[in-house]
Amino acid sequence: MSREIRITPSILNANFDDLAGEIRRIAQVSDLVHLDVMDNLFVPNFTFDFATASAIIQESVLPVDAHLMVLDADTIAPQYAEIGCASVTLHVEATQDVPGTLRAIRHAGARAGLAVKPGTDITDYADVCDLVDMFLIMTVEPGFGGQSFMSDMLAKISQTRLIIGDRPIWLQVDGGISPDTIEMATQAGADTFVAGSAVFKAQDPAKMVSMLRALANGVKE
Ligand code: DX5
Ligand code: ZN
Repeated sequence: MSREIRITPSILNANFDDLAGEIRRIAQVSDLVHLDVMDNLFVPNFTFDFATASAIIQESVLPVDAHLMVLDADTIAPQYAEIGCASVTLHVEATQDVPGTLRAIRHAGARAGLAVKPGTDITDYADVCDLVDMFLIMTVEPGFGGQSFMSDMLAKISQTRLIIGDRPIWLQVDGGISPDTIEMATQAGADTFVAGSAVFKAQDPAKMVSMLRALANGVKE
């Protein structure tokens, strides 16, 4: 059985002065665009406030996959769903009410994603599978692009694949995904790939997206 592969480029390392243009550069070959929202509290970095993010989301030619690295995800995540994101992912470490907030995201019309930092066990969240449309396994410490893929996360990816079983839940990985690492992440069970610097530091970002997809599709299970 081969899984459907999705590539969701992150614009964290793109040109922030022309994000709409940067999204258009990869639109033909990408499934969604990954928008990293950081508040300088949950992670030591800041990207967008809600008004700026809303403008990007409204202008984007691709459906938006919002990755919220913010405190108080219970309040903020449903707002991102309401303004039209296709997918909204919150961190378990920033959420008081995981089931309630996952339900609120779906209720507002978006896919509900649940992310864990490298130090967080995924098995504690197996019981919310029915409320989740995507698990996000961080393969770097969240906060910055351009870090190295943590290969000790491969076991967690495999563990998550087992938890998912037959359910149609996407399994996303984020951090250090490149032509050098995408095959091992696929082999471990990932099917949805964030790639930031690999794509936007490439001479031809669209070509890099296609190369990543081809490499992931080439992995035999
Ligand atoms: C990091 C962000 C990532 C980041 C990935 O906290 O969540 O989405 O953009 O960047 P690369 O692909 O460069 O590791
Ligand atoms: Zn991200």
